[in-house]
Amino acid sequence: MLLLNASGCLDALTAPHVAATLDAFVTKTVTPEPREGNAPPRIVETDAGMLNAIGLANPGRDAFVSRVLPRLRALDMPLCVSVGGFSASDYAETCACLEDVTIELNLSCPNVDDAPESAAEIVAACREVTANPLYAKLSPHSWDVGETVRAVEAAGADGISLVNTLRGLALGDGLRPALARGTGGYSGPALKPVALAAVHAARRATELPIVGMGGVWTGRDALELVACGATHVALGTVLFADPDAPVRVRDELTVEVARCGYETVDDVRGAALASVVQLEN
Ligand SMILES: Cc1cc2nc3c(=O)[nH]c(=O)nc-3n(C[C@H](O)[C@H](O)[C@H](O)COP(=O)(O)O)c2cc1C
Repeated sequence: MLLLNASGCLDALTAPHVAATLDAFVTKTVTPEPREGNAPPRIVETDAGMLNAIGLANPGRDAFVSRVLPRLRALDMPLCVSVGGFSASDYAETCACLEDVTIELNLSCPNVDDAPESAAEIVAACREVTANPLYAKLSPHSWDVGETVRAVEAAGADGISLVNTLRGLALGDGLRPALARGTGGYSGPALKPVALAAVHAARRATELPIVGMGGVWTGRDALELVACGATHVALGTVLFADPDAPVRVRDELTVEVARCGYETVDDVRGAALASVVQLEN
């Protein structure tokens, strides 16, 4: 099991010491053109999680490839570049510019339809232009995660990442939206049950590697994702609160694996699958 950061939740260039505690670094989503992102406030805390509407702020594909990527390569750790866009060709053109990295397709961008056909269409377009490992990052909004997973696998995905944030709304003073943009992506501990169900559904649909994420705060949370079928685990919102989370989660994981009667974390993979199937039946 590798421990990664979730896209958008760590800047390895400003916090290389945190990145160094992970097994691989996942970039913020890169779009074809530079994006300023949304007006502030674009992050608010809620009673049980965080709401963000960053708006995919990033320097754009050309600046990323020429200026950011060489600096990330100097960190000398495995890299995964998150790619976003507003059409299949947007995604494919960026993939064509990337060499020697894993690619995570953020299939949950605003204005990109998340229906199985569209996600599969984007994966197929990218598959045509790159031999790099391609992960499809899916939204928890999909009504049938298994169907989406089968569609993107058939289109050529090498792995699945899930979940992205859930759409949410927080009200502030005057009962007006607390985020300037109105709605945002809801993340943090409340997302864990959603992530467990999505990873479980994905594992029942595929043998591909799955990067599980959503509300992981402790080693126990990471282990639960693995028990539902995750191959690897990513830390998101927790990194804003606790930059030492990768070290802590790994330590807790070791204790929890032994407490549950297993030798290694990989022995736990899928341990919850059979019992959940029985419950569903
Ligand atoms: C501030 C912030 C920015 C994010 N930016 C991105 C992004 O650029 N691309 C992406 O695929 N996911 C992005 N995400 C979603 C995370 O990668 C992750 O899927 C989600 O937050 C669930 O995990 P968590 O509950 O552990 O945070 C972002 C999340 C947050 C909180």
